[in-house]
Amino acid sequence: MTSRKEIPSGTAAKTAIISSVFWLAMGTTLGFVTSLKLSYPDVLSGTPYLNFGHIRPVHVLTVIYAWISMAFAAAMFYMTPVLCGTRLWSERLGVMNIWLWNLGIIIADISLDLGISSGREYSEYAWPIDIYVVAFIFVPLGVNVWMTVLTRTVKGLYPTTWIMMAAVLYMTTDYSLTQSVEVFHITGLNEALLTWWNGHNQLGIWITPVSIGIGMYLIPKLSGNPLYSHKLAHLTFWGLFAFYSTPGAHHLMGAPIPEWLKSFASVSGVMILVPGMAFIANALLTMQGKWRLFVEVPPIRWAITGTLMGIPLFFQGGFQQTRAINWYIHGTHWIVAHAHLALLGFSSFVEIGAMYYGLERLLKRKFNPTLELYHYWLMTIGFIIFWTSLTAAGLIQAAAKVYEIPYVASVQATHPYMVARSWGGFMIITGQWIFLYNLYRTATAPASRAVPSHLATEGSGIS
Ligand code: HEM
Repeated sequence: MTSRKEIPSGTAAKTAIISSVFWLAMGTTLGFVTSLKLSYPDVLSGTPYLNFGHIRPVHVLTVIYAWISMAFAAAMFYMTPVLCGTRLWSERLGVMNIWLWNLGIIIADISLDLGISSGREYSEYAWPIDIYVVAFIFVPLGVNVWMTVLTRTVKGLYPTTWIMMAAVLYMTTDYSLTQSVEVFHITGLNEALLTWWNGHNQLGIWITPVSIGIGMYLIPKLSGNPLYSHKLAHLTFWGLFAFYSTPGAHHLMGAPIPEWLKSFASVSGVMILVPGMAFIANALLTMQGKWRLFVEVPPIRWAITGTLMGIPLFFQGGFQQTRAINWYIHGTHWIVAHAHLALLGFSSFVEIGAMYYGLERLLKRKFNPTLELYHYWLMTIGFIIFWTSLTAAGLIQAAAKVYEIPYVASVQATHPYMVARSWGGFMIITGQWIFLYNLYRTATAPASRAVPSHLATEGSGIS
């Protein structure tokens, strides 16, 4: 009888890092192609499969479900065992999870591009792909994270562990409930409400908390300082899950939904400032006396840059859902700028920091620091161009809407900003392909290449 070969520790995390960085390069490139439709509409015309309506959801869901979520899986596979003083519950399940995830994304992207879509924003995956996402992506991930925690050797749980456990549980539940729209044939305003409850939850109970959890791991770990305040971490955890799963209706401020629901969404949305700023204060105060590491240690630079982007993000998010401001900017490029500040600015910067961090430790080789610096500056400058041009275009559109200027005049007025967004986006995608190349070079470098001393050991080391 042959015994099953044991899979080395760290294989699942490594597979997830490499896959997610590939999807980051692909997903952002799809975003660039989408942007060309607004800056140079005649480019790549002639096939319906590259029309704005086909390619946009492929971009959005690839960056959310393949890049961000798979990077989260990598972080969970790596950080949960370290924080629990144990091994990942099942490396085999983890590796299978990522391969099935990759397969699912390929099928999902092709289907979406062919126009097979539920038509509901942020949950466009149609039946049975939506069931596949729950069964082969979120459930196995959740089982592995929870079982690792349940078989831990340490007593207490660090905030990152609570966040990861809660987020994966909430996300699986949320995604399954949202698909009930199909099962129970829910239509009209109820369908819209469920759609935006899910749309907002992807940020509120998944992307924001897990990014914060990763930041709370990386910053103390790499700075060598303990987390500044566990009380602030409690406030962040409870605040996020209490206030961030309720404001979905702020996407429907102009719709005929009950007025109390709009007020409720608006107030709970402003309250997100509390956990958001608690995290940012905690992260920055943890850096006390160690700010030189911002320059010297790349994962810290990425994580802190992302954290700093959280300041405009949380203020913008809080205020733009108050009725007066929402009335002005709703349906304009401002919203798209805000979405990218959250997912590309705040969240992706923190995750990229985590990928560099995990990459060096798992591959036991050092990445090329010059390529990493190119990546950082291309993404940072590209993002500033991207975000400012879209925000300005949003304000122009809003003014045109309020002063009842013909729509086509606002399209002409915002065109230069669309061009600027595409070129900012081009800088961003160039950075991601450099990142992928750097990863490839690191993975294929001779194993004998010296491992820096700060990478040699890995205990939890944070308190
Ligand atoms: C990790 C990086 C990125 C993430 C997480 C991301 C995420 C998103 C999200 C969530 C949306 C939907 C926005 C909304 O509904 O308001 C979106 C739309 C879009 N993104 Fe990205 N994106 C990324 C990178 C890029 C890049 C590099 C470009 C290149 C220019 C780009 C171009 C676009 C375009 C053109 C749209 C459609 C906007 C519209 O409907 O007017 N994205 N992206």
